[in-house]
Amino acid sequence: MTAHLENPQALTPAHSAEDIAALDRDWVMNTYARQSFVIERGEGCYLWDTDGRKYLDFLSGIAVVGVGHAHPTVVAAIAEQAGKLMHISNLFHNEHQAKLAQRLCSLAEMDRVFFCNSGAEANEAALKIARKWGKAKRGTDCFEIITFHGSFHGRTMGTVTATAQPKYQAPFEPLVPGFKYCPLNNLAALDELISDKTCAVMIEPIQGESGVQPATPEFLAGVRALCDEAEVLLILDEIQCGMGRTGTFLASQNVGIQGDIVTMAKGIADGFPMGACLARGEAALTLVPGDHGSTFAGQPLACAAAHATLDVLIDEQLMENASATGEYFLNALKGLQSSSNGDITEVRGHGLMVGVQLGRPVARELMKELLKNGVIINAVGDSILRLLPPLTVTPEHCDTVVAAIAAALQAV
Ligand SMILES: Cc1ncc(COP(=O)(O)O)c(C=O)c1O
Repeated sequence: MTAHLENPQALTPAHSAEDIAALDRDWVMNTYARQSFVIERGEGCYLWDTDGRKYLDFLSGIAVVGVGHAHPTVVAAIAEQAGKLMHISNLFHNEHQAKLAQRLCSLAEMDRVFFCNSGAEANEAALKIARKWGKAKRGTDCFEIITFHGSFHGRTMGTVTATAQPKYQAPFEPLVPGFKYCPLNNLAALDELISDKTCAVMIEPIQGESGVQPATPEFLAGVRALCDEAEVLLILDEIQCGMGRTGTFLASQNVGIQGDIVTMAKGIADGFPMGACLARGEAALTLVPGDHGSTFAGQPLACAAAHATLDVLIDEQLMENASATGEYFLNALKGLQSSSNGDITEVRGHGLMVGVQLGRPVARELMKELLKNGVIINAVGDSILRLLPPLTVTPEHCDTVVAAIAAALQAV
């Protein structure tokens, strides 16, 4: 344990990356496996560390910094709003929030928004709406929610229970009652699980944290049909795959599926914390004053950042770029796969949400090798690489990353 500082004013000076890492180790709870260097600033698709090393960022804060680091439009909007009004209680109307709600609803084809500050909170709101809706619809026994093996929905007690992966759940048992888990892309299994007790089915159109695992378009269509037949809400978790990353505003719009509830966060304000739970029809009208709330949610500063992010996304045609450059990237990686002698066994994904399945368990070594060469990517477990660049990337950036992966595969 770290000894408490005798004089709280006498803080440890920290200059080098090693100093900062040591402070972090001593004073921050040990919940993340961190790299040894310290990132200091970013611009567009690039980051620089405290030693002046430059990195091409193909992770973008795990699908957060969609319009790029320090985009001037977003920076200016935040600065202007910070000088005017950062926060106002949700007991008052807020012009930016109301206009953002209308904007998000028209892009996502939804009726109403509940704002919050993160992905887990957006999903918590969805779970609460589903339970309240279910009880009103079919009585107190209608509270079960079905999610899918390999899913990731967050770290709060409700959302970690929804996350059908024992490694995230086991230390925190007992979990929240009323969740059932179904294999992905198995419609017969889902049909079996849905009963009168089911109020909602919750799914990521493309699973992110488990290494870019897409639900097939046929499966998503089947899930929608089963939910309609059984009168069950469909919750689409678009927290990682939404916000233009796959070429349409929501990934589900690529396959023509509409949820009753859609959750968003990550890329919504280019790194400013914000989440949103959108709903349509009865689900949009379920919550009433007193049911749910959040102090910071939808405050003017976060909404200004989100408006500016949407402006850039649309004005710079970044969804179109995600689609075109994403296809270029996927094809280039497939080219690498065909000459990789089994080192790459599958390249999958949509737009700029890409997973590379490796034939050897060397994902972490590859990630480290790429870092040495100034490229940031993500390793999922031992044998998947996850690539989530800003939506501003060019084919040249993709070529650099494909060449860096090819070289790293030779090196490890
Ligand atoms: C699909 C999905 N849902 C929910 C979450 C949780 O979001 P947050 O970390 O903002 O709570 C994540 C985070 O990775 C995610 O990818």
